[in-house]
Amino acid sequence: GVEHAQPPTAWLAGAPQPASRPHASHKGSWGDVAVIGGAPGMGGAALLAATAALHAGAGRVFVGLLDDARPAYEASQPELMLRAWDSLDLAGMHVACGCGGGQAVRDVLPRVLLQARSLVLDADALNALAAVAALRPLLQARARHGEQATVLTPHPLEAARLLGCTVAEVQADRLAAAYTLAVRHGCVVVLKGSGTVVAEPAGVPLINPTGNARLASAGTGDVLAGLVAARLAAGAAPFQAAAGAVFDHGLAADRWPQGEPLVASALAGRGFWSRSGP
Ligand code: APR
Ligand code: MG
Repeated sequence: GVEHAQPPTAWLAGAPQPASRPHASHKGSWGDVAVIGGAPGMGGAALLAATAALHAGAGRVFVGLLDDARPAYEASQPELMLRAWDSLDLAGMHVACGCGGGQAVRDVLPRVLLQARSLVLDADALNALAAVAALRPLLQARARHGEQATVLTPHPLEAARLLGCTVAEVQADRLAAAYTLAVRHGCVVVLKGSGTVVAEPAGVPLINPTGNARLASAGTGDVLAGLVAARLAAGAAPFQAAAGAVFDHGLAADRWPQGEPLVASALAGRGFWSRSGP
């Protein structure tokens, strides 16, 4: 068995307040997002996260691809700025890293952990963190810094790798698994799946009430990473950014038209209802 820290009792989230945009705002008011990922053959994951960030209201969205043969632009979403990852100045940016990252993400992470203003770590960035112990002190340093928030978005297998336990042990006490990771790494943790848990080191974890099994489709996790990054870029506190994004993502699935397939590219481009209500 695995030893989990026991969190305070969880609460169910209510609908977050709709975000209104002050009339005098401009794209600089809504922040720069950079999605770093898209190793060869996995560019789609990074583009899904970036598209979701754009549709969720980020001011500017860069895609730092880990593929040297990157395209000049994305025809389906020409607003995205496709760059070589090492040409981006990450210092003021809100970064989502690991979507379609492959092994290459291990070489990228030290700089990303040091420089990114706020940071969402997903998929292969989490696998790198589980595999490479030397990366973890850099995460701790971000936690001490205060201005450099980090949100981890593992699905149960990624959480099990990070905790060094089995998926069954994660699923047997999801609240405790998320809380343990939050305390250990000094991060906000989003443990995905039915009943997504959002936890932070010094607070009450939340069980998200929205979402359904139509989200069980490749790429919807990448969309979520982009939504969290967009909320961080708009200035939300990390727990609120994570909880709001998870709520919106689930609500979009709950309101998805019955006869229409829920695929990640459609989800990324649909817009997110709670921004204008309820
Ligand atoms: N109920 C509610 N939400 C769900 C459900 C469900 N039954 N099933 C899935 N979801 C949500 C999760 O909470 C999460 O937000 O859908 C999203 C799925 O995210 P991931 O598990 O990260 O899946 P994703 O990365 O999009 O695609 C699977 O992950 O393990 C890798 O390489 C693997 O290609 C695979 C990819
Ligand atoms: Mg995923």
